[in-house]
Amino acid sequence: MAKSKTLFYCRNCGAQSIKWIGKCPSCDEWNTYVEEVVQRSDDKNKWVEYSKKKNIGKPHLIEDIKHGDQLRINTYNNELNRVLGGGMIPGSLILVGGEPGIGKSTLMLQIALNLKNMKVLYITGEESEQQIKMRAERIGLNNPDCYILTETSTQNIFQQIEQLKPELVIIDSIQTLNTDIIDSSAGSISQIRECAAEMQRYSKLTDTPVFLIGHITKEGILAGPKILEHMVDTVLQFEGERNYGYRILRATKNRFGSTSELGIYEMRNSGLREVSNPSEILISQRDDDLSGISIAATIEGLRPMLIETQALVSSAAYGTPQRSSTGFDLRRLSMLLAVLEKRSGFKLSVKDVFLNIAGGIKVDDPGIDLAVVTAILSSNEDIPVDKQICFAAEIGLSGEIRPVNRIEQRIAEADKLGFKQIFISKYNMKGIDKTKYNISISPAGKIEEVFSMLFA
Ligand code: TYD
Ligand code: MG
Repeated sequence: MAKSKTLFYCRNCGAQSIKWIGKCPSCDEWNTYVEEVVQRSDDKNKWVEYSKKKNIGKPHLIEDIKHGDQLRINTYNNELNRVLGGGMIPGSLILVGGEPGIGKSTLMLQIALNLKNMKVLYITGEESEQQIKMRAERIGLNNPDCYILTETSTQNIFQQIEQLKPELVIIDSIQTLNTDIIDSSAGSISQIRECAAEMQRYSKLTDTPVFLIGHITKEGILAGPKILEHMVDTVLQFEGERNYGYRILRATKNRFGSTSELGIYEMRNSGLREVSNPSEILISQRDDDLSGISIAATIEGLRPMLIETQALVSSAAYGTPQRSSTGFDLRRLSMLLAVLEKRSGFKLSVKDVFLNIAGGIKVDDPGIDLAVVTAILSSNEDIPVDKQICFAAEIGLSGEIRPVNRIEQRIAEADKLGFKQIFISKYNMKGIDKTKYNISISPAGKIEEVFSMLFA
């Protein structure tokens, strides 16, 4: 046997080196190099042979190339379709990442069982056939053309694929695969990279969409190097607070669509339910008015959502006041508190401030600012904000209330859900036809104006 050859790989970006180095020259991270045994013998590579058989690699005139959009494949799952940009593209490689136990396998099995008239191959290296069957029964769906294969060697997988000729392949998970070409163990960087490359070649050559499930490490990065993200066409993140039932699917990279779309699911006993009207779940049902609660009319992707923000302001028990937030950027919270202190004269520097976005979701839309501020002021004054009021505006550094995008869509959603009043920036008023809505629209230019309208 030939002497085994080892190489060093950067755990962060996948760069390789023949000796260990402390700082990666390509991504500048420290202490990320790990040693791996590699042995490449390219003659074993089936898909290289395959590509020689097929006449690929010829240049085509751009005029002659077919437009792929009408070729999108419906997944029969509206939330997934939305996140993918309208459906799967043939020959695309899609990575689904998420923490263990979040529901990746459930989601993919559900898709596999729900697809109509499509031959699906679900390959698992994590669970037994019986476990999959039990889960399928729990979900309660059935696709007569769905095959399960428990296998981890890519060479064997490709053999089965050649016989079965599936129209969609799902791999659970990329970390369990191993290829004969490389000697290091499954889950190592070089294995993950090589297996993903084989899957990519297969998917591109046969126009079959392939889903790869990938685990996420504790630090929140996809286990395996970043290079995996470069190789695939689409990266989907499946996330959510484990204690809440809600799961969010978002694209962090998409070669065939926007990355601002969200899919929302609810984990039930019988699998994942698509949540088509998210506002229903993000606003808690309450009978009496409580202080510190305020509703924001936000937009995620193209979809308007009403989200509840909750704040608690209390006198600091210790010297340094605490600030904590879930679902909202802590630095932005500090900025809003500084604006309230400096520009609007509220004494909050000696107060503890806790902020929470209901439902366990994370919000990036700046249009939530005004709701955050009113929730904080409401808790500080201990005066509730009327349940029928919502807010859609950004706060600037000088305390001014700034306009946000897609204001009409936000107003329309709030109107649809029966809110009576919405506060927006006065600079957003241009072109809004007030007569179209039942909801009353209150423009404001400064935080103090909103404050006096709500609490004075
Ligand atoms: P799973 O898909 O195995 O997660 P992953 O593949 O991301 O590791 O999901 C596991 C969790 O989902 C588990 O805690 C049980 C829960 N679950 C339900 O609540 N209802 C269901 O119908 C199913 C199948 C799972
Ligand atoms: Mg799983």
